[in-house]
Amino acid sequence: MHHGGDKVKQKHKALGAELFQVGEKVRIPKDGCIKLPMALEEDQEALFISTGDGYRLIPLLPDVKRIYIEATTDCNFACITCIRSSWEDKLIHMDWETFENILRNLKELPKLESVHFGGFGEPMMHPRIFEMLRAVKGLGLKVEMITNGSYLSEENIQKLIDMELDVLFTSLDSPQEEEYNEIRQGADFQRVSRNIENLQAMKRKQKAGKPELGIEFVAMKKNYTRLPKLIQMAYDLKASQIIISNLLPYHESMKDEIVYDLDDAGCMFGKDSLKTTVWAQMSNMKLRTERSCKFVKGKSLCINYQGNVSPCYALMHTYQCYVYGRKKQMYPFFLGNVNEKKLPEIWMDSGYVNFRRTVNENLFPSCTDCKSVDGCNYTESNEMDCWGNTPSCAECLWARRIIACP
Ligand SMILES: C[S@@+](CC[C@H](N)C(=O)[O-])C[C@H]1O[C@@H](n2cnc3c(N)ncnc32)[C@H](O)[C@@H]1O
Ligand code: SF4
Ligand code: SF4
Ligand code: SF4
Repeated sequence: MHHGGDKVKQKHKALGAELFQVGEKVRIPKDGCIKLPMALEEDQEALFISTGDGYRLIPLLPDVKRIYIEATTDCNFACITCIRSSWEDKLIHMDWETFENILRNLKELPKLESVHFGGFGEPMMHPRIFEMLRAVKGLGLKVEMITNGSYLSEENIQKLIDMELDVLFTSLDSPQEEEYNEIRQGADFQRVSRNIENLQAMKRKQKAGKPELGIEFVAMKKNYTRLPKLIQMAYDLKASQIIISNLLPYHESMKDEIVYDLDDAGCMFGKDSLKTTVWAQMSNMKLRTERSCKFVKGKSLCINYQGNVSPCYALMHTYQCYVYGRKKQMYPFFLGNVNEKKLPEIWMDSGYVNFRRTVNENLFPSCTDCKSVDGCNYTESNEMDCWGNTPSCAECLWARRIIACP
């Protein structure tokens, strides 16, 4: 009896709240003035928000790490996959003045690490693309570009080597001529693959390490069985990385081409094919519950050809896409324009900070897992979701890592 009672006592005193690390208590007087329990080096603006269980202070910092620049929306190809088949944007190059404004602003972002020239167009068609790349390189930043590979003449390759562009991504949607030319309408497989070989040969000859070569492949029913061969091709070309994205259908004719969630999607690429030294970033092939936005997590922003700033590629333009066969109207989400406001000011705008917090903390519903999805009108566009978020990220396949980009 006696012993049993001791045991009960021990059980009760085992763990106590004092084991938890706690923050310091502060008293909020009637006038609302509080003193923070830590000192700040300088004046600091912060966003004060009320959360479900209290309050939060988010320091406003110009801590952008990566910027995507869309130098143009024009292109010499008409790929069957491309967003350009369903959008309403003009096909024009970025003004030099807009670019100069961006350049001035980059200097005011102390945490900026890299700038990627991409977006939805062919960057190498911009008549001043080399000046743009050189100017950003001149700031000491890592600079990348993605291209369809058609403008890689020896002269242009030499310019890229001379400026030490860090990474050059080239899109290769098939290692097979006929299939590549069918997907990339207006393209010539022989020419593009010769251009890439030339790039690598010229680098080798000049003992130049840069630009590193990256390959991007968009997987769809038409081409997915070729992925092992493509990886072999990338290996032979001495590419340093491959990005394998899934298709986001932008046109009705492509909506049945998706391969994610196919029963055999897991085994279709064959494990042996991935045994190369090429670093491959493979997209998720199954819808997973976990969500993580590469753009918001990576403190990135995108600037379109008109200088409008968006949080990501998905929110840069007006277009339609098909999410698991359902048509969705997408509207852009612009937080400001570099010709009117400075980038740090746009980045630290309270609406943008709140948007990033919502995305980072997954404070939005998930349509792709929702039982009501078939009868729900919200999914017809990204304007709003059932939690009142506007715009809505609730069906974003980038956040599911199904769609990928450099
Ligand atoms: C829009 S392009 C712009 C750069 C350049 N014109 C090119 O093709 O590389 C950027 C990347 O998006 C990929 N892409 C095109 N359509 C896509 C789609 N429907 N879903 C996913 N990625 C796509 C392209 O293959 C390319 O690798
Ligand atoms: S080359 Fe790039 S921008 Fe041009 S149509 Fe193809 S995917 Fe679109
Ligand atoms: S918006 Fe509609 S489909 Fe999406 S989670 Fe809410 S109810 Fe479900
Ligand atoms: S979750 Fe998707 S739509 Fe939302 S910011 Fe990220 S990439 Fe853009």
